[in-house]
Amino acid sequence: MLRPTLFALAIVRLFAGATLVALLLSCASLMHRPAGTPEDVDYARQLWAVLAQQRMVGRHARALQPFIGAARPHGWILEVDSAVVTVKGHQGFVVVKKNYRGNRLTVAEVEKDRARYLDSISVMFKREAGYDSADKDWFWAQYQPDGQLALMRKMGMRMAMAGKLIKGVTPDKNRGCIYCHSSAGGGDYIFYPEITLP
Ligand code: HEC
Repeated sequence: MLRPTLFALAIVRLFAGATLVALLLSCASLMHRPAGTPEDVDYARQLWAVLAQQRMVGRHARALQPFIGAARPHGWILEVDSAVVTVKGHQGFVVVKKNYRGNRLTVAEVEKDRARYLDSISVMFKREAGYDSADKDWFWAQYQPDGQLALMRKMGMRMAMAGKLIKGVTPDKNRGCIYCHSSAGGGDYIFYPEITLP
């Protein structure tokens, strides 16, 4: 009696194991890691290092003129900067947006103590042709003030905010940075008309 039971158990186990593997595989292919891959994270790190060196971000960043940005309930103050920088041997245009946050925050308060109110840094960097031809080859990244990447939830998992944020299976399923910025005037994915590609 014992043997057939053990045999059946082994079969069930084998079957369950195979099913689990199949499930995991299909999950992985479904997600097809559209952004936040180790490669994206590494690239974002290098981009940050270059921006810090150029004093566009980080502790030694040049002070820019803050202004009142998108009307949000708690008051957002922004600083925007752009330049041509070289990352991993590729020369590209970069736009850096610093987001300052605080209750009824004023420009004067930000100017007095930037570090205190800096909430996040949004960056778009023009990569080599072919990186993402459908969406103008922009590399997107959202950083915390210390240069760590911001994290977001995607299908129950935490994803570092770097790369093609966020490609859908088809263009109409695009989300996030790409989705929003594709509607910017001029077709260059840049909202501020005074910022133009070189
Ligand atoms: C809900 C729409 C929306 C989403 C999502 C969005 N943006 Fe923006 N972004 C804007 C708008 C509108 C502006 C211009 C006004 C402002 O700065 O608030 C802007 C401005 C910018 C700028 C300054 C250059 C420009 O386009 O004028 C950068 C850089 C930027 N966003 C990066 C990002 C990144 C990186 C993400 C994703 C992590 C992102 N944005 C997601 C709407 C969006």
